[in-house]
Amino acid sequence: MRLRSMDISEDILYIGAQDEDLDLFESQYPVPNGMTYNSYVILDEKVAVTDTADARKLDEWMENLEEALSGRTPDYLIIHHMEPDHSAGILMMAEKYPELKIVGNAKTFPMITAFLGEDLAGRGIVVKEGEELSLGRHTLTFVMAPMIHWPEVMFSYEKTEQVLFSADAFGSFGTIEKQEEDWYCEGRRYYFNIVGKYGAQVQAALKKLSALPVRAIAPLHGPVHFEPAPVIERYGVWSRYEPEDRGVTICCAGVHGNTLEAARMLGEMLTAEGIKVKLFDLTRDDMSEAMEDCFRYDRLVLAATTYDGDLFPVMHDLIYHLKMKNYQNRTVGIIENGSWAPQSGKKMREGLEGLKNITVLEPVVTLKSAVSAQSQAQLEALAAALAQA
Ligand code: FEO
Repeated sequence: MRLRSMDISEDILYIGAQDEDLDLFESQYPVPNGMTYNSYVILDEKVAVTDTADARKLDEWMENLEEALSGRTPDYLIIHHMEPDHSAGILMMAEKYPELKIVGNAKTFPMITAFLGEDLAGRGIVVKEGEELSLGRHTLTFVMAPMIHWPEVMFSYEKTEQVLFSADAFGSFGTIEKQEEDWYCEGRRYYFNIVGKYGAQVQAALKKLSALPVRAIAPLHGPVHFEPAPVIERYGVWSRYEPEDRGVTICCAGVHGNTLEAARMLGEMLTAEGIKVKLFDLTRDDMSEAMEDCFRYDRLVLAATTYDGDLFPVMHDLIYHLKMKNYQNRTVGIIENGSWAPQSGKKMREGLEGLKNITVLEPVVTLKSAVSAQSQAQLEALAAALAQA
């Protein structure tokens, strides 16, 4: 059913689909509130459609398209991003509407061939930075946004209504009906896990956007932002890799509960000092939620057991994710555990090498199996160092 509440205006109609029972978005991110695949019809002398949907929801999307068109025929399909969650309907549209022109950039059309097995370049309009496409009263200006988060990504800006179609930028998890009240909660998890590696590219795009008056941002996932300024401002903080809030994220990878006990004790010491603490048991909690808070707060504690002379695997996984997403500009504390030959502190320190502007605090807390009087004193010293950092 077409969600009229998501229409941007009388001429820009929402035809996106709601995916309520998707288990993992991009095969790795839990989406308990589902997902949207956003798409719009712009009705004017010419009719443009922006993007399509995931194969899981093409029937719903096509039904919405036909309802919004009310018998009209689309002239253009604008491809902002070729990832399959948005591009599964391209061939269906091309077949159904033989006069339809596909609008993309030079990198779009090879991807259409690679993903969909058909060369649509002969039906294509290849646009470059700043080029315009007039629909009548509405005009789309194309803004290249490479590597946010794929190379072919572009935004388009409709100047009459001042609407920015922003591809995956400014998107979030959750269907429209099940959006968190606080957009930043899932918007942040989406950003750091999906876009986070590309801070420099986001900065470049924000610079271009600063010249445009934007009334609304329409991303490919999640709600339209009718108050874009705070969201743009937050993207600035995130893409500069600045901490957003003061607080300590504690990420723990332990086997039998003793490392987790030390992590909890540290958390309680910090909480008693009035410091915001978020604790993740990496063996059970979602990695993408942990990543979100690693980036949100200014301080991080890594707590891990030694395993086979190295790190318990989920801590390797976290450090890998942090590296992949360019984690930087933070203060880090370390808790290691090892019953006969503690190695995890050394391995975590090595894992952080090469990350920009990371300060590792002293002391490193060493557990030899379980918390002892000596390691409790180290935890207290680490808590004091974190409080002062
Ligand atoms: Fe929503 Fe990068 O696809």
